[in-house]
Amino acid sequence: MREWLRDVLARRPGWMNALLGFCAYMTFLYLPFDFFVKPIARDEEVWFGVVLTGFAAKATEPLHWALYAAGSYGFWRMRPWMWPWAALYTAQVAIAMAVWPLLEVGGAKGLLMGAVSFIPFAALSVALWNARDRFQAPRRPLRERYGEWALVTGASSGIGAAFARALAREGFSLVLCARRRERLDALAAEVAKECAVATRVVPVDLAAPEGAERLTAGVADLEIAVLVNNAGFGSAGRFELQDEQRLVEMIQVHCTAPLVLTRRLLPKMRSRGRGAVVFTGSLAAKQPMPLHATYAATKAFVELLGEGLWAELRGSGVDVLVVEPGTTTTEFQAVAGELPHEGETPERVVAVALERLGEQPSVAIGWWRWLRGNLGMRLLPRSLLARVAQGAIEKQTPPSLR
Ligand SMILES: NC(=O)c1ccc[n+]([C@@H]2O[C@H](COP(=O)([O-])OP(=O)(O)OC[C@H]3O[C@@H](n4cnc5c(N)ncnc54)[C@H](OP(=O)(O)O)[C@@H]3O)[C@@H](O)[C@H]2O)c1
Repeated sequence: MREWLRDVLARRPGWMNALLGFCAYMTFLYLPFDFFVKPIARDEEVWFGVVLTGFAAKATEPLHWALYAAGSYGFWRMRPWMWPWAALYTAQVAIAMAVWPLLEVGGAKGLLMGAVSFIPFAALSVALWNARDRFQAPRRPLRERYGEWALVTGASSGIGAAFARALAREGFSLVLCARRRERLDALAAEVAKECAVATRVVPVDLAAPEGAERLTAGVADLEIAVLVNNAGFGSAGRFELQDEQRLVEMIQVHCTAPLVLTRRLLPKMRSRGRGAVVFTGSLAAKQPMPLHATYAATKAFVELLGEGLWAELRGSGVDVLVVEPGTTTTEFQAVAGELPHEGETPERVVAVALERLGEQPSVAIGWWRWLRGNLGMRLLPRSLLARVAQGAIEKQTPPSLR
């Protein structure tokens, strides 16, 4: 806990930690109290020094709340969009601090009070304006950070193919794994031509008990710097209608194969003091998923395995990330036997994953999915969650499988 706190505080200077603390106080204590508990008659909000009261104050509180919530998140993660917004918002507060005493107190006393309270906020605004680099710290290229070879499982389609293309653009040589050899060969030829990187195709069925072992044997002569455990599939429908063998294979592909691959490739990364392991998990890991019960259970395993390894490997030079896509437009739906429905692009999933790799244990794709996964799905009663999920998934499942 102490180490975690030290890590968190080390990400920004002390004065910014104080601002983070203030934003968190406003977000989680003061503004909820103001909005939900304070009577409208006693409500006051100050914007640019103008005091709003009563209903006008209550109505503008959610905007204040949203601003402080964005500030809490922005300082916590040191997000690039904090520049220039944090400086501009603080300038607004500085103006308010100068104008408010002038309007409310007036005269020389008001002027003096305004000047005294303006100065610290103006100074803070200037400091935030000058802190642009802290919010946009240049990141070392992935290839430089981790090494030469990236191994992507499930590279013949969807998110895996998008990972392969993105990593090739980053300059990694690629090992491509899946069952459909012709697809892997075509992708290898494409990235070799477009990105001038070396490639190796290792067609393997990861559902086979010896699959992961065959894959590690196929790369034994390479120094794998980045392992992307991505291969996977869904199988929609009621549990008792599912083919038992297919469910066992799902556990093999989602849980056993990534575990074995990571266990075998990690020691070398660790001894080199650099490397990365990415797991394609799912938002499904966060809640019970009727009609996809086994799938969600396997993804919960992936999530906890990855997040646990993230903590174990901190400081070793090896980064771990679980990426948690929601519905994504790939071949997944057709393979799972679902009815078609809209989703995210695989390219976006991969862009978010590669951007956050090395920053955090797991990442959802977009703030709305983050809120669903980290607030809704954690706080709501499991019975309610399971039923809401069932309603949604039934719409995506052919009637014969419900
Ligand atoms: N699409 C979504 O909505 C969504 C949402 C959350 C998480 N995910 C996860 O994202 C990952 C990638 O899925 P996707 O959406 O990109 O689906 P996809 O387009 O169907 O791709 C799945 C990949 O996994 C490979 N694969 C499946 N079974 C395999 C096996 N037995 N051995 C080796 N490779 C195997 C497939 O290759 P071959 O068929 O050639 O073997 C294919 O390359 C999966 O882990 C999935 O659970 C997807």
